[in-house]
Amino acid sequence: MKRVFLSIALVLAVAFTVSACSKAAPPAAKKGIAAVEFWKDWPVGTKGQFPPCGTNVIALGLDQNLQDTVDAYCSLDPGHYETHINPAVKSIYDAKGSEYPDGMTAILLLPKLGVGFTTAHKEGKPYMDVITLADSVSIANTEPGNGLNPQFCMHCHTTYLEDCKGYICGNRND
Ligand code: HEC
Repeated sequence: MKRVFLSIALVLAVAFTVSACSKAAPPAAKKGIAAVEFWKDWPVGTKGQFPPCGTNVIALGLDQNLQDTVDAYCSLDPGHYETHINPAVKSIYDAKGSEYPDGMTAILLLPKLGVGFTTAHKEGKPYMDVITLADSVSIANTEPGNGLNPQFCMHCHTTYLEDCKGYICGNRND
């Protein structure tokens, strides 16, 4: 089940990413710059793949808005994803801890689309962002309800998935 939840997150965010970037060059077309790939040597947390179009998310307890978004954007086929965890906090991640120190915590990579979702902590609070993988530039949005607004990320990282620990979801119990 958790893979499907993640897929929804990715479909939503990717949909908004693509619409936000529609006037710019496609991020996936750029080559990565090693110097800014801060996650390059970070250990992998989880890996996965998007489900096909037609996944019924209402049956999984999510709402019509999410279903509509999945239905509308699944054809983008975002492909493979993988998460990387800052080695400084990997032991907390592995122990399913909920207290993370200040700093960058984790990144979820969508290589095919050239974007990454990041979670950082400061004084116990989460700071979510969306960046291009090529140059680590933020493409986060501030409009209410936009899938790239860091507030939006919290729907899942705190609400839908109550068992996420310390705003980190990949290590939670099902
Ligand atoms: C629909 C629910 C949902 C939404 C919306 C969502 N996420 Fe997530 N996110 C997840 C789940 C579930 C995982 C764990 C996936 C796995 O590893 O199996 C995850 C994983 C992550 C990770 C890897 C670290 C971790 O928590 O395991 C980061 C970083 C992340 N998300 C950031 C974001 C950002 C930034 C946004 C908003 C742009 C966002 N997420 C929106 C559900 C969501």
